[in-house]
Amino acid sequence: LLDGPLRGKHILVTSGPTHEPIDPVRYIANRSSGAQGTAIAQALAGLGARVTFVSGPADHPMPEGVDVVRVETAAQMLAAVEQGLPADAAVFAAAVADWRVASASDSKIKKDGSGALPVLEFAENPDILATVSQKVEGRPALVVGFAAETDDVINHATAKRQRKGCDWIVANDVSPETGIMGGSENAVTLIHNDGSESWPRMGKQAVADRLAAKISEVIGG
Ligand code: C5P
Repeated sequence: LLDGPLRGKHILVTSGPTHEPIDPVRYIANRSSGAQGTAIAQALAGLGARVTFVSGPADHPMPEGVDVVRVETAAQMLAAVEQGLPADAAVFAAAVADWRVASASDSKIKKDGSGALPVLEFAENPDILATVSQKVEGRPALVVGFAAETDDVINHATAKRQRKGCDWIVANDVSPETGIMGGSENAVTLIHNDGSESWPRMGKQAVADRLAAKISEVIGG
């Protein structure tokens, strides 16, 4: 552990996509690379925090100098987060699947030759950010969520902050023409209880460094 303003603090970070199984060989996923979450974990560790990094199956290399917990599904991610608490702060950068397949098959679903098509039924996944934000006991002092939006970004993200009960929302526009999802840059607006601040477009590591510095201002020694 490095010396720094976050020395002695424990911070939980979720990152990456989740995979929701259909059967033993197939799953539903999303395009999250884990790049922004990894950069945030790295930045927090660089300021001296002890970081628990709960990651879905991301392509991106894992951050160094943190405790990595690898999970696959949203349900596993929630369990790992609960296990990782208590924490002084939590940053939920994962792109958690909203739905899982209600009853994943234990064996590979086969074509039976009749042309019959499989039908998938879905069940809602737990909202990890909302669950932790609304804890009565053991809530981290600072809970940060993300909001990837394609339109009316600030209004949607402000509503999301209130609905979920987190302290800050890092909102970004992930419309395809921005090139942000899967890209190396990000342009975010940080939304808190008394307004918002828009940061210029910069590299994801720079966004992470700036966010880590702000977190440090709030919970750092
Ligand atoms: O509602 P939406 O998915 O847009 O909210 C995004 C924020 O909520 C992110 O911080 C994400 O990590 C978190 N989230 C979560 N669990 C879910 C869905 C989203 O923690 N099931």
